[in-house]
Amino acid sequence: MLCRLASRGRSRTQLIAALGCSASRQKHTLPDLPYDYGALQPHITAEIMQLHHSKHHATYVNNLNIAEEKYKEALAKGDVTAQVSLQPALKFNGGGHINHTIFWTNLSPNGGGEPQGELMEAIKRDFGSFGNFKEKLTAVSVGVQGSGWGWLGFNQDQGRLQVTACYNQDPLQGTTGLIPLLGIDVWEHAYYLQYKNVRPDYLKAIWNVISWENVSARFTACKK
Ligand SMILES: [Fe+2]
Repeated sequence: MLCRLASRGRSRTQLIAALGCSASRQKHTLPDLPYDYGALQPHITAEIMQLHHSKHHATYVNNLNIAEEKYKEALAKGDVTAQVSLQPALKFNGGGHINHTIFWTNLSPNGGGEPQGELMEAIKRDFGSFGNFKEKLTAVSVGVQGSGWGWLGFNQDQGRLQVTACYNQDPLQGTTGLIPLLGIDVWEHAYYLQYKNVRPDYLKAIWNVISWENVSARFTACKK
């Protein structure tokens, strides 16, 4: 969606703000959470949220800024080897920043339940029922080997919703072309302190705090 906003010529400031980037310094910054660390309890503890946001996400932001700085230097020098060698760091930390920025807004203390309107209609059309969709995204997320994300994305070419998984911090749109609507972080840092190694229990709980309002807004935006 972020890229769509840019490609449609809408405010660049809006795009930059969405990525937590200050236009004047061109440095990415950690976005504030739209709720308190303890707001998603009992489904996700305050301790997890605090560490996840202020340590993990912050580290991706810091390392993205460092990698971008080095990349700028490599560009200035015309050092293609250095540019290529920096790409994994840009992908990992840039993806980590993009993914978590989406994730925080996909969650809400007032979340849960089921989506309404156009999004619900599209889910029924593309997955048969909301229950089938939920089962599919849960299974895909539980099935990620190691660290990664489960996603609901919009396939713009085919005009339909798709569920898929991405490994590590691979950003959905940058690696698959799907526009991200809902991401579920299944790195252990997202759940281990509360759910230990039982990822399915975390997946069961997270549906109680999904902000369908946010997911629907992303769906509406990518269809315009
Ligand atoms: Fe995470």
